[in-house]
Amino acid sequence: PTERIEISTITEDMQGSEITFRCRLHNVRRMGAKLVFLVFRQQLSTIQGVLVEQPGKISALMVHWAEHLRTGNVMLVKGVLQKPEIPVKSASIHNLEVKVTNLHIIVKRAEAVPFSVQEAELAVFDDEQKTEGRHTLIPDRTRLANRIMDLRTATSQSIFRIQAGVGSIFRNSLDDLRFVEIHTPKLQGAATESGASVFKVNYFGRSAFLAQSPQLAKQMAIASDFERVYEIGAVFRAENSNTHRHLTEYTGLDLEMAIEENYHEMMDIIDHTLKSIFKGVYTKYRTEVEIVKEQFPSEDLVWLDETPRIPFKDAIKLLNDSGWLNEDGEPISALEDLATRDEIRLGELMKEKYKTDYYILDKFPRSARPFYTMPDADDPRYTNSFDVFVRGQEIISGGQRIHESTMLEDNMRLVGIDPDDMAEYMEGFKWGAPPHAGCGVGLERIVMLILKLGNIRLASLFHRDPKSFPP
Ligand code: ATP
Ligand code: AMO
Repeated sequence: PTERIEISTITEDMQGSEITFRCRLHNVRRMGAKLVFLVFRQQLSTIQGVLVEQPGKISALMVHWAEHLRTGNVMLVKGVLQKPEIPVKSASIHNLEVKVTNLHIIVKRAEAVPFSVQEAELAVFDDEQKTEGRHTLIPDRTRLANRIMDLRTATSQSIFRIQAGVGSIFRNSLDDLRFVEIHTPKLQGAATESGASVFKVNYFGRSAFLAQSPQLAKQMAIASDFERVYEIGAVFRAENSNTHRHLTEYTGLDLEMAIEENYHEMMDIIDHTLKSIFKGVYTKYRTEVEIVKEQFPSEDLVWLDETPRIPFKDAIKLLNDSGWLNEDGEPISALEDLATRDEIRLGELMKEKYKTDYYILDKFPRSARPFYTMPDADDPRYTNSFDVFVRGQEIISGGQRIHESTMLEDNMRLVGIDPDDMAEYMEGFKWGAPPHAGCGVGLERIVMLILKLGNIRLASLFHRDPKSFPP
């Protein structure tokens, strides 16, 4: 058998050579009586083929047969590389074409498809959307309902390569800093973030919960003297939030570490890691980013060498000084969490003032944070905790944790949690846990925001949300 090649490895100097490859038939077009154009696709790579009737070599019957091939078939193609007569216009199609000599169907597409990959890749822009948003020929709803077809698009192929890159940069950066990767249980005896939004499962007649975050386990790992840990794993949230940025199951990139003096040691690490992620996406994945931009126009994310770290209070002042009012027409409170629309407005103000899409809000109010958060010693209405924002939306929550057991118990009781219900977790603190801090990133959310996809589902391979599951 002839050696098969990858379309992506074809270079200009291979003109004239014979190649064989396996691919999906992307498109078929008849041109006149004796010629068929075939477009072949391997994941992100596309090459044009031409099949011409040639006495003694390619019969009229073969040309006729090829003309009626179904797009989506898996094909084995043999041919010779040549310069196309009319140069290929699209940047995403190889500038050499294959003069086809042999063509076989390996797998026939049996069923009609809801839309073709080509249709799904067609973006339609009006003047306004050219800069602001996007509009695809096939709506998201239809694409997501037929996910396998949609994942075959160059756009989706790119999104998930970028997502894999984000995960691997996170992992490599932390490995370099001597973090230990851990895997914590997703079946738990207690809620972690808030009791209301947990999925309850029947555990041999008793109740268990799907982990809302690896929060408790990663703190327990610190109490177990692992010093620095991280996890990339599933997170479950029973939030009936039908928004563009909430899923019921997402992938958390979490870290936790013992600190010497200040939780800003951890903030420095995540800040550095995020910048490595941004840089990696825009360099290593440049081709993929450009492909995504064809359907989802965006400017490259802007970040600064020195990330602005603004106290929450000051951010609220910035909002209020701009004359911004909350949904009830009132100034924004500096003692409560921000609502989404206020966050987005703040993002615009931050962009104007600091010329960045990426910043950190530090010292969140206590009312907005879970029981395990360390209060600010200087002002107990606030906490040693922060959120990280990209394009005006939250990608990370994090902060210092309470490591002293009586203080933790008091804080639990304050929000109605019985420490006895979390006995195993509490042991770590009773037996002495070092001061520590940590944070959690939502993988789908960061990918959505970097690429400005506008819908988190597009960054989830097979998404779970309150409406679409079971599929
Ligand atoms: P975290 O859970 O850490 O706060 P998050 O980004 O998931 O992170 P939520 O707490 O779930 O945020 O919600 C915070 C923001 O999301 C709030 O500003 C809230 O207005 C908004 N939000 C949550 N659910 C909905 C919803 N169903 N519709 C509109 N906005 C929502
Ligand atoms: P938090 O609840 O803020 O913090 O979650 C951390 C990050 O996870 C992402 N995220 C989500 N992504 C998709 N769908 C959701 N429903 C969803 N909810 C949250 C966001 C968010 O910033 N234990 C803390 C973290 C810590 O302090 O270490 C926690 O889970 O990107």
